[in-house]
Amino acid sequence: MRSNCCGELRKENISSTVQLCGWVDRCRDHGGVIFIDLRDSSGTVQITVDPDQGNELFAIAESLRNETVVQVSGQVRARPAEASNQKIDTGDIEVLAKDLKVLNHVKGNLPFTVSIHDEESVREETRLKHRYLDLRRDKLSKNLRIRHKTIQAARNFLEKEGFIEIETPILTKSTPEGARDYLVPSRVSGGDWFALPQSPQLFKQLLMIGGMEKYYQVARCFRDEDLRADRQPEFTQLDIEMSFMEQEEIIAMNEKLIVSIWKTIKGIDLPTPFPRITWHESMERYGTDRPDIRYGIEICDVSKIFKNIGFKVFSNAISSGGSVKCITIPKGNSAISNVRIKPGGDIFSEAQKMGAGGLAFIRVRESNEIDTIGAIKDNLNIDQINALIKQTNAKEGDLLLFGAGDTKIVNRTLDRIRQFLAMELKYLPSQESINYWGFIWVVDFPMFDFNIDENRWEALHHPFCAPNNKDLGETPDEWQNRLPKARAQAYDLVLNGLELGGGSIRIHDAALQKQVLETIGLSTKEAHEQFGFLLDSLDMGAPPHGGIAFGLDRIVMLLTGSESIRETIAFPKTQQARCLMTEAPSEVSKQQMKEIHVASTWTNPK
Ligand code: AMO
Repeated sequence: MRSNCCGELRKENISSTVQLCGWVDRCRDHGGVIFIDLRDSSGTVQITVDPDQGNELFAIAESLRNETVVQVSGQVRARPAEASNQKIDTGDIEVLAKDLKVLNHVKGNLPFTVSIHDEESVREETRLKHRYLDLRRDKLSKNLRIRHKTIQAARNFLEKEGFIEIETPILTKSTPEGARDYLVPSRVSGGDWFALPQSPQLFKQLLMIGGMEKYYQVARCFRDEDLRADRQPEFTQLDIEMSFMEQEEIIAMNEKLIVSIWKTIKGIDLPTPFPRITWHESMERYGTDRPDIRYGIEICDVSKIFKNIGFKVFSNAISSGGSVKCITIPKGNSAISNVRIKPGGDIFSEAQKMGAGGLAFIRVRESNEIDTIGAIKDNLNIDQINALIKQTNAKEGDLLLFGAGDTKIVNRTLDRIRQFLAMELKYLPSQESINYWGFIWVVDFPMFDFNIDENRWEALHHPFCAPNNKDLGETPDEWQNRLPKARAQAYDLVLNGLELGGGSIRIHDAALQKQVLETIGLSTKEAHEQFGFLLDSLDMGAPPHGGIAFGLDRIVMLLTGSESIRETIAFPKTQQARCLMTEAPSEVSKQQMKEIHVASTWTNPK
């Protein structure tokens, strides 16, 4: 149907006869001559329709609407110098149309403009409902091409390293990654259910036990969890597993993988090794295990100073087992007004979103004088002020913002405020700078976190991570006591405050695996019911192994500078986990339900 693609025509093609297909990006009538910008996936080219070429041809051109699909034959010619357009690659030439055929019409109104000339901002719902139109637009189409190149770069790298791509089942058994499962009822085994994989975790371990040694997969994962800009119910992992490699080797290899992706897509050489921080230090300094390390404003635990202060918000927080922590905003006195920190202010509301009641603040004035409001002012003595200034290293003009209460909430709040103010006060390096890319490995995660509501330990990553041998002791008796407080041989790769990937060395000893499952509250019977196949396999010559999974959508989001992973997925879902285009999920017929032995208990709350 076509001899060339629109975007590839150049001066070298002048005088050749070409046949092109594409969409009418826009049409302009310039006093008797019609210019059509014709667009296909390679770019756009100007088609010139001259009345001298015949009335019939001209009449068709006059009737064209945007997004009509056409086929054009004609001759490439140079544009007059004054009409050349350096903004597009084909800007030196145009195609003089000799024949023009409409391949498909546009009927009715388009819900939004598609043209490359129009970066009209359109409501996301409208774009999602008509995703096929949005995909024609420049931004999304570029993002998907970058996604493709990212996968290609990863494949190239991994295959050179001897990895092979293996698919694992989608209809499977639940893998505990901490979210709710999507379930699929079995028709042939009435009453039984498959779970869609939250990750291929157990299968990739079984592939190692099966002797594959180096596996990877561009793996679709499904998690029924609360959605955010960086979370989708259905997302893609670049999933990797390898045998006979220790943590250091795995980290080094994956660092090279990331470097090669950034080199391919961004053309930059990331400095290596990436910095590292232990989980404990990350929580202390940044209040999160996903630290954005591109600016300071680190968190300072000042609980000791305020243990006996008369200001009850602080002293009660500490006496009830929580903490008082603060961040120092350099020159924050002039940059941030009281109104913004007090109820109703934007900084206050950021804190509130994280569960904090508010933010106490202190302004450092000349000669270490301080200035604040409310009860805090009347309850601080000079020793406390001096200790505070010493510990925070605050200078004249700086603003101290405090979180007090439950340590998890304090950490979460100050992390949020830190990130919010870094954006607000423009502390972030520019996208062009190599410093824009704040990679860091977080290592030495605890094996478990204590769930107070359920009064039990739960795995911080998943229950297949190997503990650090140094924390474990020698005998199974020691394991039992020491495991809850042990560090895991687990590592996360964080970029700009976002978790890009996570992995670990796995347990390859059945007895230790059973002990870990017991620690998270599974009886021997339950452990066998859920993970019998894994426990059996571990006793049949399981090699030492480990791996990692990267969030592919997140990698592409960062590479393309997008605000959400929805901008990197062809057909994403909304925050309510719905597809606005196909209207899935939707009702099914009673007959279908019957066949799969399912009855709905759903009642509409309205
Ligand atoms: P984890 O649960 O940390 O580890 O997932 C790995 C990476 O997947 C991405 N990710 C998501 N991306 C989009 N939407 C989601 N809902 C979502 N959830 C996770 C993140 C995350 O770092 N089996 C282990 C990996 C391993 O141990 O090898 C796992 O799945 O970028």
